[in-house]
Amino acid sequence: MSTPTRRHLPRHAAPPATAADPAGAALDAEALDAEALDGSQLDEPADRTAPAPSPATRLTFPPDFGWGAATSAYQIEGAAKDDGRGESVWDTYSRAPGRTRNGDTGDVAADHYHRYADDLDLMRDLGLRSYRFSISWPRIQPDGTGAANQRGLDFYRRLVDGLHERGIAPMATLFHWDLPQTLQDAGGWESRDVAYRFADYADIVFAALGDRVPVWLTVNEPKTVVQNGYLSGHHAPGRQDPDAAYLVAHHLQLAHGLAVRALRATGGTGRIGPAFNLHPCYPADDSPAAAEAARLYDGYENRLYLDSALTGSYPADVLADLGPDSRMVRGIRDGDLEIISSPIDLLAVQYYTPLYITPAGGTVRRWPTSEAEWQQIYPDGMYDTLTRVTRDYGPIPLTVTENGLPTPDVLTPDGAVEDSGRVTFLRDHLAAAHRAISDGVPLESFHVWSLLDNFEWAEGYEQRWGLIYVDYPTQRRVFKRSAHWYRQVIADNAL
Ligand code: FCB
Repeated sequence: MSTPTRRHLPRHAAPPATAADPAGAALDAEALDAEALDGSQLDEPADRTAPAPSPATRLTFPPDFGWGAATSAYQIEGAAKDDGRGESVWDTYSRAPGRTRNGDTGDVAADHYHRYADDLDLMRDLGLRSYRFSISWPRIQPDGTGAANQRGLDFYRRLVDGLHERGIAPMATLFHWDLPQTLQDAGGWESRDVAYRFADYADIVFAALGDRVPVWLTVNEPKTVVQNGYLSGHHAPGRQDPDAAYLVAHHLQLAHGLAVRALRATGGTGRIGPAFNLHPCYPADDSPAAAEAARLYDGYENRLYLDSALTGSYPADVLADLGPDSRMVRGIRDGDLEIISSPIDLLAVQYYTPLYITPAGGTVRRWPTSEAEWQQIYPDGMYDTLTRVTRDYGPIPLTVTENGLPTPDVLTPDGAVEDSGRVTFLRDHLAAAHRAISDGVPLESFHVWSLLDNFEWAEGYEQRWGLIYVDYPTQRRVFKRSAHWYRQVIADNAL
């Protein structure tokens, strides 16, 4: 196989250190043509904060637009040993020395497992209409196979019932990266069998919650597992093996398709789809070489997942680049693509950043970044991503299931958190989503990442992504300025 030569600017990670550059400051020298900004520099200019737009200039969203916020189990729940929960790859990875910032783990996180009822009240106060959360596989099957752990299911039943009581629609992700460790020990996503174990787990969850969850998402960001878990290695399971990585991509897609079929087999009315993080890939210059490089980059970033799920074939340019001897290409069996492309009801899109591709197939930065150095702030990328999906794949209903940024939030003595950078970011990205809707994109809901500050994977607790501030020593929650702003947007159904 020809190992892809693409260099990845790793998601969720500080620049890797090198011997000559212990702090990692010189990573990707060609990329450093824009200064990183912290959130405070993203504050809106005074003339953009006041006064509120008149009704005539307001951007009004469709009636019943699903205003939401998102979380995932390992990032907020804590309670790592409660009620029979098994170990996940993220327990193992975060506890290993040197893997996460400050050695942080999700053992306690935002303690949501114990505080979910209060958190549900906060969601109600925010006015949410949709809440996207994930179910922890090791709570349901502590060893990844076999009988269900009823206490784990009961937690999600209470959560889902509490959402309904407050008029909030549940949206449940089946897999947000916390693979049971026993399945990792048996080969993890390199093992085809794990895709079938995932379908068994999905069966259990559908039987327990299928009557109460209207929308299911199968696999969260398979690309991040591939790139961070198996290429750069700064996510669990921490591998650096390109040949394994794309076999993992295939098995994650297979797992998605098998879960779709499992839901259909229940005969229930729930809707289901995958959650892909899409990165628009723009050529960094006008040269034909940059255009060509951007096209292949787009294949790895976007079409690998979109084409297989929506058209039933992997992109030919990516397969050719991987080569016939790659483990992925050898691992595709007859019928797999029919399973992967089982009809879905909606597609969940997560947008954070664009990528600019050089003629040599590298990346450069074009826009200021957030505290997450991989994230360039470019709201038009939201518009381009949404319209591209509709243009290339047809009018499948879309939901944005993640969009947001980390800001350097501080709780002031009088109990306020002034994250105006987040207000600006969300307003600009929502305006781009509104423009896409106006141009015909069937976008039905939008979920801010994240409801609460949480465990941001390799970054631990340092980056704060929430609308709601979490004071970790006390677990006190405080609405940030952005939460107050978002509540008003929801109440107005308009920006
Ligand atoms: C996404 C992940 C989510 C969170 C945000 C910042 O890639 O799905 O868990 O880490 O990025």
